Amino acid sequence: MDQVMNMEGAPLSRRYYGGQAGRKIGVTFDGCDWLLKYPAATRRLAGSVPSYTTAPLSEYLGSHIYAALGIPVHDTRLAVRDGRIVCACRDFVGDGERLVEFAQLMNYMDEDDLPSSSSPDTTHGQRIVYLADARAALYRVPELAGTEGAAERFWDMFVTDAFIRNIDRNNTNWGLLDHGRERAFTLAPVYDNGNSLGNKKTSTAIGKALDDPGRIRQDALDVRSCYHDDRGHPIAPFKYMRSGDDDCVQALDRFMQRWDPARLDDILAAVPARAYGLSVMDEQQRDYHARVLRARYEQAFTPIWRDTATHITPFDMAAPWTITPDGATHGPNH
Ligand SMILES: Nc1ncnc2c1ncn2[C@@H]1O[C@H](COP(=O)(O)OP(=O)(O)OP(=O)(O)O)[C@@H](O)[C@H]1O
Ligand SMILES: [Mg+2]
Repeated sequence: MDQVMNMEGAPLSRRYYGGQAGRKIGVTFDGCDWLLKYPAATRRLAGSVPSYTTAPLSEYLGSHIYAALGIPVHDTRLAVRDGRIVCACRDFVGDGERLVEFAQLMNYMDEDDLPSSSSPDTTHGQRIVYLADARAALYRVPELAGTEGAAERFWDMFVTDAFIRNIDRNNTNWGLLDHGRERAFTLAPVYDNGNSLGNKKTSTAIGKALDDPGRIRQDALDVRSCYHDDRGHPIAPFKYMRSGDDDCVQALDRFMQRWDPARLDDILAAVPARAYGLSVMDEQQRDYHARVLRARYEQAFTPIWRDTATHITPFDMAAPWTITPDGATHGPNH
Protein backbone atom coordinates (compact mmCIF):
# COMPACT_ATOMS: atom_id res chain seq x y z
CA MET A 1 0.00 0.00 0.00
CA ASP A 2 1.25 3.49 -0.87
CA GLN A 3 2.23 5.68 2.01
CA VAL A 4 0.46 8.98 2.41
CA MET A 5 3.35 11.40 2.87
CA ASN A 6 3.39 13.77 5.79
CA MET A 7 4.19 17.16 4.27
CA GLU A 8 2.88 19.26 7.16
CA GLY A 9 6.23 20.78 7.98
CA ALA A 10 7.78 20.91 4.50
CA PRO A 11 9.20 24.39 3.77
CA LEU A 12 7.77 26.50 0.95
CA SER A 13 9.78 26.24 -2.26
CA ARG A 14 9.14 29.73 -3.65
CA ARG A 15 7.67 28.17 -6.76
CA TYR A 16 4.23 29.42 -7.78
CA TYR A 17 1.60 27.77 -9.93
CA GLY A 18 -1.39 28.97 -11.96
CA GLY A 19 -4.57 27.09 -12.83
CA GLN A 20 -8.08 27.72 -11.61
CA ALA A 21 -9.09 24.50 -9.88
CA GLY A 22 -8.18 25.33 -6.32
CA ARG A 23 -5.36 26.18 -3.98
CA LYS A 24 -1.79 25.18 -4.83
CA ILE A 25 1.44 25.66 -2.99
CA GLY A 26 5.04 24.70 -3.73
CA VAL A 27 7.07 22.93 -1.04
CA THR A 28 10.45 21.25 -0.79
CA PHE A 29 10.45 17.69 0.50
CA ASP A 30 13.17 15.03 0.38
CA GLY A 31 15.39 17.28 -1.73
CA CYS A 32 12.76 17.87 -4.46
CA ASP A 33 10.24 20.57 -5.27
CA TRP A 34 6.62 19.47 -5.07
CA LEU A 35 3.41 21.18 -6.14
CA LEU A 36 0.64 20.42 -3.63
CA LYS A 37 -2.88 20.48 -5.09
CA TYR A 38 -5.66 20.93 -2.54
CA PRO A 39 -9.29 19.88 -2.95
CA ALA A 40 -11.20 22.78 -4.54
CA ALA A 41 -14.21 24.35 -2.82
CA THR A 42 -17.36 24.00 -4.93
CA ARG A 43 -19.48 26.79 -3.41
CA ARG A 44 -19.80 28.53 -6.79
CA LEU A 45 -21.07 25.41 -8.53
CA ALA A 46 -24.76 24.72 -9.01
CA GLY A 47 -26.42 21.34 -8.47
CA SER A 48 -25.71 18.53 -6.11
CA VAL A 49 -21.96 18.55 -5.44
CA PRO A 50 -19.87 17.85 -2.34
CA SER A 51 -18.47 20.96 -0.62
CA TYR A 52 -14.96 20.03 -1.81
CA THR A 53 -13.98 18.09 -4.91
CA THR A 54 -11.99 14.89 -4.66
CA ALA A 55 -9.60 16.33 -7.27
CA PRO A 56 -6.40 15.33 -5.38
CA LEU A 57 -7.49 11.67 -5.45
CA SER A 58 -8.46 11.98 -9.13
CA GLU A 59 -5.09 13.58 -9.92
CA TYR A 60 -3.33 10.69 -8.23
CA LEU A 61 -5.45 7.91 -9.78
CA GLY A 62 -5.55 9.46 -13.26
CA SER A 63 -1.79 10.00 -13.24
CA HIS A 64 -1.16 6.41 -12.14
CA ILE A 65 -3.37 5.13 -14.96
CA TYR A 66 -1.24 7.16 -17.40
CA ALA A 67 1.89 5.67 -15.83
CA ALA A 68 0.49 2.12 -16.16
CA LEU A 69 0.09 2.79 -19.90
CA GLY A 70 3.75 3.76 -20.15
CA ILE A 71 2.92 7.38 -21.00
CA PRO A 72 5.32 9.84 -19.30
CA VAL A 73 3.38 11.59 -16.52
CA HIS A 74 4.29 13.66 -13.50
CA ASP A 75 5.15 11.75 -10.36
CA THR A 76 2.25 11.99 -7.92
CA ARG A 77 1.84 10.95 -4.28
CA LEU A 78 -0.95 11.41 -1.81
CA ALA A 79 0.07 13.60 1.10
CA VAL A 80 -1.32 15.41 4.09
CA ARG A 81 -0.92 19.19 4.57
CA ASP A 82 -2.97 21.60 6.68
CA GLY A 83 -5.05 18.66 7.85
CA ARG A 84 -6.19 17.84 4.32
CA ILE A 85 -5.44 15.10 1.84
CA VAL A 86 -3.61 16.75 -1.07
CA CYS A 87 -1.96 15.46 -4.21
CA ALA A 88 1.78 16.11 -4.24
CA CYS A 89 3.08 16.44 -7.80
CA ARG A 90 6.85 16.42 -8.22
CA ASP A 91 7.85 19.57 -10.08
CA PHE A 92 9.17 18.42 -13.46
CA VAL A 93 10.53 21.82 -14.53
CA GLY A 94 14.26 21.74 -13.79
CA ASP A 95 16.52 24.74 -13.21
CA GLY A 96 16.94 26.68 -16.46
CA GLU A 97 13.89 24.98 -17.99
CA ARG A 98 10.49 26.42 -18.75
CA LEU A 99 7.09 24.86 -19.38
CA VAL A 100 5.55 26.22 -22.59
CA GLU A 101 1.83 25.47 -22.69
CA PHE A 102 0.10 24.37 -25.87
CA ALA A 103 -2.10 27.50 -25.66
CA GLN A 104 1.01 29.69 -25.91
CA LEU A 105 2.26 27.73 -28.90
CA MET A 106 -1.14 27.96 -30.60
CA ASN A 107 -1.01 31.75 -30.33
CA TYR A 108 1.80 31.56 -32.86
CA MET A 109 -0.70 30.65 -35.55
CA ASP A 110 -2.08 33.28 -37.88
CA GLU A 111 -5.81 33.39 -37.20
CA ASP A 112 -6.50 32.97 -40.90
CA ASP A 113 -4.72 29.61 -40.75
CA LEU A 114 -6.99 28.32 -37.99
CA PRO A 115 -9.61 26.01 -39.51
CA SER A 116 -12.24 27.34 -37.07
CA SER A 117 -11.61 31.07 -37.57
CA SER A 118 -15.18 31.61 -38.78
CA SER A 119 -16.73 29.62 -35.90
CA PRO A 120 -18.17 30.97 -32.66
CA ASP A 121 -15.58 31.82 -30.03
CA THR A 122 -17.37 30.93 -26.87
CA THR A 123 -20.22 28.79 -25.67
CA HIS A 124 -22.02 29.69 -22.42
CA GLY A 125 -19.26 32.24 -21.78
CA GLN A 126 -16.51 29.57 -21.92
CA ARG A 127 -13.74 29.84 -24.48
CA ILE A 128 -13.97 27.01 -26.96
CA VAL A 129 -11.07 24.74 -27.86
CA TYR A 130 -11.58 23.46 -31.39
CA LEU A 131 -10.24 20.04 -32.24
CA ALA A 132 -9.53 21.21 -35.79
CA ASP A 133 -7.38 24.10 -34.51
CA ALA A 134 -5.44 21.90 -32.11
CA ARG A 135 -4.91 19.37 -34.89
CA ALA A 136 -3.67 22.07 -37.28
CA ALA A 137 -1.30 23.48 -34.65
CA LEU A 138 0.33 20.08 -34.18
CA TYR A 139 1.60 20.19 -37.73
CA ARG A 140 1.93 23.93 -38.38
CA VAL A 141 3.57 25.35 -35.25
CA PRO A 142 7.28 24.63 -35.81
CA GLU A 143 8.04 23.86 -32.14
CA LEU A 144 5.29 21.23 -32.09
CA ALA A 145 5.95 19.79 -35.53
CA GLY A 146 9.64 19.56 -34.62
CA THR A 147 9.11 17.83 -31.27
CA GLU A 148 9.23 14.10 -31.53
CA GLY A 149 6.02 12.38 -30.53
CA ALA A 150 3.88 15.53 -30.05
CA ALA A 151 1.04 14.35 -32.30
CA GLU A 152 1.07 10.85 -30.76
CA ARG A 153 0.97 12.40 -27.28
CA PHE A 154 -2.01 14.53 -28.26
CA TRP A 155 -3.98 11.48 -29.40
CA ASP A 156 -2.79 9.27 -26.52
CA MET A 157 -4.20 11.95 -24.20
CA PHE A 158 -7.42 12.18 -26.21
CA VAL A 159 -7.99 8.44 -25.70
CA THR A 160 -6.69 8.13 -22.13
CA ASP A 161 -8.65 11.20 -21.02
CA ALA A 162 -11.78 9.52 -22.38
CA PHE A 163 -10.92 6.49 -20.25
CA ILE A 164 -10.48 8.46 -17.03
CA ARG A 165 -13.21 10.91 -18.07
CA ASN A 166 -10.92 13.89 -17.85
CA ILE A 167 -13.04 16.73 -19.15
CA ASP A 168 -10.40 19.41 -18.82
CA ARG A 169 -7.45 18.74 -21.12
CA ASN A 170 -7.68 22.31 -22.33
CA ASN A 171 -4.84 24.03 -24.12
CA THR A 172 -3.12 25.00 -20.87
CA ASN A 173 -3.04 21.45 -19.58
CA TRP A 174 -0.22 20.06 -21.67
CA GLY A 175 2.87 21.42 -23.31
CA LEU A 176 6.56 21.33 -24.10
CA LEU A 177 9.66 21.85 -22.02
CA ASP A 178 12.05 24.54 -23.21
CA HIS A 179 15.59 23.60 -22.18
CA GLY A 180 17.19 26.85 -23.37
CA ARG A 181 17.96 28.45 -26.71
CA GLU A 182 20.53 25.94 -27.93
CA ARG A 183 18.50 22.81 -27.20
CA ALA A 184 15.48 21.14 -28.76
CA PHE A 185 12.10 21.22 -27.04
CA THR A 186 10.87 18.00 -25.47
CA LEU A 187 7.39 16.94 -24.45
CA ALA A 188 6.53 17.77 -20.85
CA PRO A 189 5.17 14.80 -18.92
CA VAL A 190 1.37 14.66 -18.75
CA TYR A 191 0.07 16.83 -15.87
CA ASP A 192 -3.29 18.11 -14.55
CA ASN A 193 -5.47 15.01 -14.39
CA GLY A 194 -7.48 16.36 -11.45
CA ASN A 195 -10.73 17.05 -13.27
CA SER A 196 -11.42 13.39 -13.92
CA LEU A 197 -13.04 10.27 -12.47
CA GLY A 198 -16.17 12.09 -11.32
CA ASN A 199 -14.38 14.35 -8.83
CA LYS A 200 -17.60 16.21 -7.98
CA LYS A 201 -19.80 13.19 -7.26
CA THR A 202 -21.46 13.15 -3.88
CA SER A 203 -21.38 10.00 -1.76
CA THR A 204 -25.17 9.80 -2.22
CA ALA A 205 -24.78 9.74 -6.02
CA ILE A 206 -22.05 7.12 -5.74
CA GLY A 207 -24.24 5.02 -3.44
CA LYS A 208 -27.15 5.19 -5.89
CA ALA A 209 -24.91 4.23 -8.81
CA LEU A 210 -23.58 1.21 -6.91
CA ASP A 211 -27.15 0.00 -6.40
CA ASP A 212 -28.05 0.31 -10.08
CA PRO A 213 -26.03 -1.25 -12.96
CA GLY A 214 -27.87 1.10 -15.35
CA ARG A 215 -26.29 4.10 -13.66
CA ILE A 216 -22.84 2.54 -13.74
CA ARG A 217 -23.27 1.98 -17.46
CA GLN A 218 -24.50 5.53 -17.92
CA ASP A 219 -21.53 6.98 -16.03
CA ALA A 220 -19.19 4.74 -18.03
CA LEU A 221 -20.53 5.89 -21.39
CA ASP A 222 -21.35 9.52 -20.62
CA VAL A 223 -17.97 10.93 -21.54
CA ARG A 224 -17.30 14.21 -23.30
CA SER A 225 -14.15 15.81 -24.53
CA CYS A 226 -12.94 19.34 -23.85
CA TYR A 227 -12.58 19.73 -27.63
CA HIS A 228 -15.35 21.08 -29.87
CA ASP A 229 -16.27 20.52 -33.47
CA ASP A 230 -16.40 23.35 -36.02
CA ARG A 231 -19.95 24.25 -35.07
CA GLY A 232 -18.97 24.69 -31.44
CA HIS A 233 -20.49 21.40 -30.22
CA PRO A 234 -18.53 19.33 -27.70
CA ILE A 235 -17.00 16.23 -29.26
CA ALA A 236 -18.14 12.86 -27.96
CA PRO A 237 -14.87 10.89 -27.82
CA PHE A 238 -16.44 7.46 -28.32
CA LYS A 239 -18.21 8.67 -31.44
CA TYR A 240 -15.06 10.36 -32.66
CA MET A 241 -13.02 7.17 -32.16
CA ARG A 242 -15.29 5.52 -34.70
CA SER A 243 -15.01 8.38 -37.19
CA GLY A 244 -12.07 6.88 -39.06
CA ASP A 245 -9.46 9.43 -37.98
CA ASP A 246 -6.32 7.31 -38.33
CA ASP A 247 -4.35 9.14 -35.63
CA CYS A 248 -7.15 8.51 -33.18
CA VAL A 249 -7.65 4.87 -34.22
CA GLN A 250 -3.94 4.21 -33.74
CA ALA A 251 -3.96 5.85 -30.32
CA LEU A 252 -6.89 3.64 -29.32
CA ASP A 253 -4.93 0.65 -30.56
CA ARG A 254 -1.88 1.68 -28.49
CA PHE A 255 -4.16 2.02 -25.46
CA MET A 256 -5.70 -1.42 -25.93
CA GLN A 257 -2.31 -3.07 -26.46
CA ARG A 258 -0.94 -1.48 -23.31
CA TRP A 259 -3.83 -1.48 -20.85
CA ASP A 260 -4.01 -4.44 -18.54
CA PRO A 261 -7.35 -4.28 -16.67
CA ALA A 262 -5.75 -6.02 -13.67
CA ARG A 263 -3.51 -2.96 -13.17
CA LEU A 264 -6.54 -0.98 -12.09
CA ASP A 265 -7.05 -3.26 -9.09
CA ASP A 266 -3.40 -2.71 -8.10
CA ILE A 267 -3.70 1.07 -8.46
CA LEU A 268 -6.87 1.18 -6.36
CA ALA A 269 -5.52 -1.27 -3.79
CA ALA A 270 -2.47 0.96 -3.25
CA VAL A 271 -4.64 3.75 -1.86
CA PRO A 272 -5.32 3.43 1.88
CA ALA A 273 -8.85 4.02 3.18
CA ARG A 274 -7.63 6.42 5.86
CA ALA A 275 -4.44 8.20 6.91
CA TYR A 276 -3.66 10.60 9.77
CA GLY A 277 -7.29 10.32 10.89
CA LEU A 278 -8.55 11.53 7.50
CA SER A 279 -10.57 9.65 4.88
CA VAL A 280 -8.49 9.09 1.72
CA MET A 281 -10.79 6.83 -0.32
CA ASP A 282 -13.77 5.03 1.17
CA GLU A 283 -14.93 1.60 0.07
CA GLN A 284 -17.79 3.02 -1.99
CA GLN A 285 -15.45 5.27 -3.96
CA ARG A 286 -13.08 2.36 -4.55
CA ASP A 287 -15.88 0.13 -5.76
CA TYR A 288 -17.37 2.90 -7.91
CA HIS A 289 -14.10 3.62 -9.74
CA ALA A 290 -13.43 -0.10 -10.26
CA ARG A 291 -16.89 -0.71 -11.72
CA VAL A 292 -17.16 2.39 -13.90
CA LEU A 293 -13.67 1.98 -15.38
CA ARG A 294 -14.25 -1.72 -16.00
CA ALA A 295 -17.59 -0.96 -17.68
CA ARG A 296 -15.99 1.76 -19.83
CA TYR A 297 -13.27 -0.65 -20.90
CA GLU A 298 -15.67 -3.48 -21.68
CA GLN A 299 -18.63 -1.57 -23.08
CA ALA A 300 -16.94 1.29 -24.96
CA PHE A 301 -13.23 0.78 -25.56
CA THR A 302 -13.32 -2.93 -26.42
CA PRO A 303 -16.16 -2.86 -28.99
CA ILE A 304 -14.89 0.36 -30.61
CA TRP A 305 -11.41 -1.12 -30.89
CA ARG A 306 -12.77 -4.37 -32.33
CA ASP A 307 -14.77 -2.46 -34.93
CA THR A 308 -12.11 0.07 -35.92
CA ALA A 309 -8.89 -1.88 -35.69
CA THR A 310 -9.73 -5.18 -37.34
CA HIS A 311 -7.04 -4.45 -39.92
CA ILE A 312 -4.35 -3.90 -37.30
CA THR A 313 -2.22 -6.85 -36.25
CA PRO A 314 -0.19 -7.13 -33.04
CA PHE A 315 2.98 -5.12 -33.30
CA ASP A 316 6.27 -4.31 -31.69
CA MET A 317 5.45 -1.05 -29.92
CA ALA A 318 9.01 0.25 -30.15
CA ALA A 319 9.00 0.15 -33.96
CA PRO A 320 7.43 2.83 -36.18
CA TRP A 321 4.03 2.59 -37.83
CA THR A 322 3.24 3.30 -41.44
CA ILE A 323 -0.04 4.15 -43.10
CA THR A 324 -0.29 3.32 -46.79
CA PRO A 325 -2.06 5.68 -49.20
CA ASP A 326 -5.09 3.36 -49.27
CA GLY A 327 -5.54 4.09 -45.57
CA ALA A 328 -4.46 0.65 -44.27
CA THR A 329 -2.33 0.76 -41.15
CA HIS A 330 0.74 -1.47 -41.08
CA GLY A 331 2.66 -2.43 -37.98
CA PRO A 332 6.34 -3.31 -38.18
CA ASN A 333 5.63 -7.03 -38.74
CA HIS A 334 4.39 -6.28 -42.25
N1 LIG B 1 4.13 18.51 -11.76
C1 LIG B 1 4.25 19.80 -12.14
N2 LIG B 1 5.47 20.38 -12.23
C2 LIG B 1 5.60 21.67 -12.61
N3 LIG B 1 4.56 22.47 -12.94
C3 LIG B 1 3.31 21.95 -12.87
C4 LIG B 1 3.09 20.59 -12.49
N4 LIG B 1 1.76 20.35 -12.53
C5 LIG B 1 1.19 21.50 -12.91
N5 LIG B 1 2.12 22.47 -13.12
C6 LIG B 1 1.90 23.87 -13.50
O1 LIG B 1 0.94 24.42 -12.63
C7 LIG B 1 -0.20 24.88 -13.35
C8 LIG B 1 -1.44 24.59 -12.54
O2 LIG B 1 -1.56 23.19 -12.34
P1 LIG B 1 -2.84 22.40 -12.85
O3 LIG B 1 -3.01 22.63 -14.30
O4 LIG B 1 -2.67 21.00 -12.39
O5 LIG B 1 -3.96 23.15 -12.01
P2 LIG B 1 -5.52 23.30 -12.18
O6 LIG B 1 -5.93 24.35 -11.22
O7 LIG B 1 -6.13 21.96 -12.08
O8 LIG B 1 -5.68 23.84 -13.62
P3 LIG B 1 -7.02 24.15 -14.45
O9 LIG B 1 -7.28 25.61 -14.26
O10 LIG B 1 -6.52 23.80 -15.82
O11 LIG B 1 -8.10 23.25 -13.94
C9 LIG B 1 -0.14 24.15 -14.68
O12 LIG B 1 -0.78 24.87 -15.70
C10 LIG B 1 1.34 24.04 -14.91
O13 LIG B 1 1.84 25.26 -15.42
MG1 LIG C 1 -4.53 23.17 -15.42
